[in-house]
Amino acid sequence: TVRRVPLIAGNWKMNLDHLQAIAFVQKLAWTLKDANHDFSAVEVAVFPPFTDLRSVQTLVAADKLPLAFGGQDVSEHESGAFTGEISAAFLEALESRYVIVGHSERRTLHAETDEQVAGKVAAAIAHNIAPIICVGETAEDLETHGASAVPVAQLRAALSRVDSAADFVVAYEPVWAIGSGQAATPEQAEQVAAALRAVIAEVLGDDVAGKTRILYGGSVKSGNIAGFMREPNVDGALVGGASLDVNEFAAIVRYQK
Ligand code: G3P
Repeated sequence: TVRRVPLIAGNWKMNLDHLQAIAFVQKLAWTLKDANHDFSAVEVAVFPPFTDLRSVQTLVAADKLPLAFGGQDVSEHESGAFTGEISAAFLEALESRYVIVGHSERRTLHAETDEQVAGKVAAAIAHNIAPIICVGETAEDLETHGASAVPVAQLRAALSRVDSAADFVVAYEPVWAIGSGQAATPEQAEQVAAALRAVIAEVLGDDVAGKTRILYGGSVKSGNIAGFMREPNVDGALVGGASLDVNEFAAIVRYQK
């Protein structure tokens, strides 16, 4: 099997304006370089609000920073009368490597359906942006269906318009673990990640399943990241709250130290 380069991704959600973003990214890059972080061994990405992206892109390009970035959402439409939406073409023009798709906050607060998520995944891929496909069960789902059923169904739907040439990432984020301080255990994360990898294998084949990174998200901190990273099917983390503090996020990136 191929070696999957771990990815540590920071989802800023609706935090940090463009000036704060510039200061944050400069400090993050400086902190990691100062610590001799090997960016080819553990990839680092940040997901700022849309209004920050141009500033982040300019800074990363000017200083040749080894950081990836992308949007927190994308429209499933190519262009047109969609007030407030951001297209994959716009994100591609800003050199976004990734885009978060189907985050539980979008699914819950903005009623995003599995079908829309599939459209967003397809739109990102069509513009050479790797979607980070978020899936996860609520506390209620967990009680009624167990941990894997809902994430597995969500992933199956999200992959309905994807072919085996596509580059994408999966993030398992149990809704009950997001922002709650109550992370899943590494064993729970591993169990669902393995089930998700089996879905990828079934839909797109073993090669794609072997190379696709599956992240865990939900109350990840510097104190619990190493446990997740020891699991064979967990290839990184999607970090919310703890990604807003440069030193804490850098410590998560440097989980091996
Ligand atoms: O997308 C990351 C996120 O939902 C997890 O948030 O604050 O629990 O790390 P948090």
